[in-house]
Amino acid sequence: MKKTFIIANWKSNITLPEAKSWLDNFDVQGLDVADKEIVVCPSFTLLSELKSYALKNNSLVKIGAQDISPFSEGSYTGEVCGKQLKDFSEYVIIGHSERRRNFSESNETVNQKIRKAFEADLRPIICVSDLEQAKAFREAVKTDNDFIVAYEPLFAIGTGSADTPENADLMVKNIKNILGDKVILYGGSVTSSNINQFSKMPNIDGALVGKASLNSVEFLQIIKNA
Ligand code: PGA
Repeated sequence: MKKTFIIANWKSNITLPEAKSWLDNFDVQGLDVADKEIVVCPSFTLLSELKSYALKNNSLVKIGAQDISPFSEGSYTGEVCGKQLKDFSEYVIIGHSERRRNFSESNETVNQKIRKAFEADLRPIICVSDLEQAKAFREAVKTDNDFIVAYEPLFAIGTGSADTPENADLMVKNIKNILGDKVILYGGSVTSSNINQFSKMPNIDGALVGKASLNSVEFLQIIKNA
C-alpha cells in the first residue's frame, strides 16, 4: 500500500517540559496510521525523550534528526555523527533551506551529509527548493539507498502562504523525473486546513510540516486530514 508521509520538523523549538506536554496531548493510539508514516524530527536534545515515547507506542511514530555531521565520529566538537544518531532515529533531515541560508551549506556539504546518512543506515529527508538542487544531488550521489525528498519553495516556508497544490504537484512530478519514483513530499505552510489539497494530488506523497507541527492537537488533525 502506498503510504502518505507526514513529517514534523520542530526546528529550534520546544524544551523538554514542552515536549513532554506535546507528547501527553498526542493520542497516537487513537489514530489509524495503517496507510501513513508519521515522523517527528525534534532537536538533538529531545531525541532521547522522543525515542522512549516511540518505543512505548509500538513505534507508531518514527523519529528523525534535523541534521547530521558531514564527518564520521571523531574530533569534531559540536557535531553529532550518523552513528550517534542511529541510537535514536531512523530518519534525518538534510539540506533544509534554513541551513543552506544561515549556515552556508552548499550542495557539496549536503551531498557529504547524505553519504554519511547512508553509511549509518539512516534514511535522509533531503530538502530542495528548486530543480537545480535536485539535479545537484542526483549527479553527486549515485545510490540505490532509499531517500525521501521534500520540495520546499522558499516563498512558502514559514510565511503562511503555501504553494498552490497544482504547482507543487508539477514540481514534485518534475523531481520524480529527475530522481526516479521516490517518496517526494511538499513542504511550506502546511496546516490541517490545506493538507488534504496537497496529499490528494497524484504525485505528492505527503508533507514536511514546520510551524503547524509545534501544536500536537493541530499536528494530529493534519495526520487525520491527510
Ligand atoms: P513551515 O515550515 O511549515 O513552518 O512553513 C516547513 C519547513 O520548513 O520544513
